Amino acid sequence: MRFSDLSGRKTREDKPKAAAAKPAPAPDPVPPPAAGGAVPSEPLREEARLPSAQTSADQLPGGQAKPSAAPPVPRSAEPPEAVPAGSAPRVRTRREQQRKDEASARGNQRPFRELDAEAREIYSKNLSLAGELFGQIDQPYVEKYEKIIRLAELTSRTLVENPALLNYAAHATAGNYLHAHSANAAIISQAMGLALNLEPGEAAFLGFCALAHDIGMTGCLELANRGDRLTDEEFSVITLHADAGADKVDRIIDMDYKVKERAMKIISQVHERIDSSGYPRRLAGGEIDILAQLIGVADVYEAMSHPRPRREAYHPHNAVKHLIDKEGRGFDSKIVKALMATVTLYPPGSLVALSTGETARVVMANKGSLTWPVVEVLLDANYEPVQPQLIDLMEYPLTAVERIVNLEEISRKNHKFAAKLELARWWVEW
Ligand SMILES: [Fe+2]
Repeated sequence: MRFSDLSGRKTREDKPKAAAAKPAPAPDPVPPPAAGGAVPSEPLREEARLPSAQTSADQLPGGQAKPSAAPPVPRSAEPPEAVPAGSAPRVRTRREQQRKDEASARGNQRPFRELDAEAREIYSKNLSLAGELFGQIDQPYVEKYEKIIRLAELTSRTLVENPALLNYAAHATAGNYLHAHSANAAIISQAMGLALNLEPGEAAFLGFCALAHDIGMTGCLELANRGDRLTDEEFSVITLHADAGADKVDRIIDMDYKVKERAMKIISQVHERIDSSGYPRRLAGGEIDILAQLIGVADVYEAMSHPRPRREAYHPHNAVKHLIDKEGRGFDSKIVKALMATVTLYPPGSLVALSTGETARVVMANKGSLTWPVVEVLLDANYEPVQPQLIDLMEYPLTAVERIVNLEEISRKNHKFAAKLELARWWVEW
């Protein structure tokens, strides 16, 4: 990937002053699992247990070492061989060398602008189709399967070669949150399916089921859009959407009946959990279709990392950590690992502080690395906007993600810029 295409230069300047003055990362605020280990199965409730405060990357789960907060080192087209005066000599490890080689190999790939433009187009199509499906599903007959499955095939093919598409799944829709939620869940679950080596046809079918998994919510939109916490009775009404959605699939007429049967089964099982804590049938383990399990994890991750009428979004890193906490209980370990392989520990859309003191936004995960994404630097160490610049952290191993940051923190330092970032989250069709 030629990041110089976007930034106009291959090297960056450092901001050594503030990096040295940076405080130690805050302790991890994510609470331990609920007593008894029961996994709530409805995302809206699951989210409510997590604080939105920033998290240190020190306690990264999954045994992944935290990237070292190395002192700032002048960057050049090549990672520096020499270390700054006063620092201990640091020799490139074999792993770093491997990272560099892999990054060099990627240098021949398509420019980011091209990837981004393609990703935007595919995302826009997914959103439009989600809107069409939700707008028409309450009619007696709907003819949408062929159109959705063709787009899902295109989406799967794109995901294989274009990691920038996942970045678009950080968007939300203001008019009806379900449109972006459904498109995002479709993209994320397809990427997870590809990580598990699903056949292309199965991955596309997974995309259809994910796009349609919440069509049962059209019957309880008022409750879903309420700005306050639901009572138990109201929540039990929401749980009916799983079976209601499965029933609505029957209205889609351009589907083979066997395909339709499986889609209905999967959509009814998205909120089931392997420890029988889900709904509507309290199924367990292997009783739940693997595609329903994939959508279930993508659904919770998407819901937590996006705003809802009753709350702000959680940082995507905290959403991933929450799902890792549930690994083996509620969610199958291999499904959670598929999510980690897809969005990594600093998912696309995450705001992070770099070891240089700069603030950046993650724009792409790097295959094979959980903690060294491609980031777009947005603010310098004094929280002043800089010319947006892409950095592949695999190419600069001495610069690391130090911790996650949230909008509130940025807002305290640069309110105007935080407002711009918040605005950019909402999808607007030009
Ligand atoms: Fe959902």
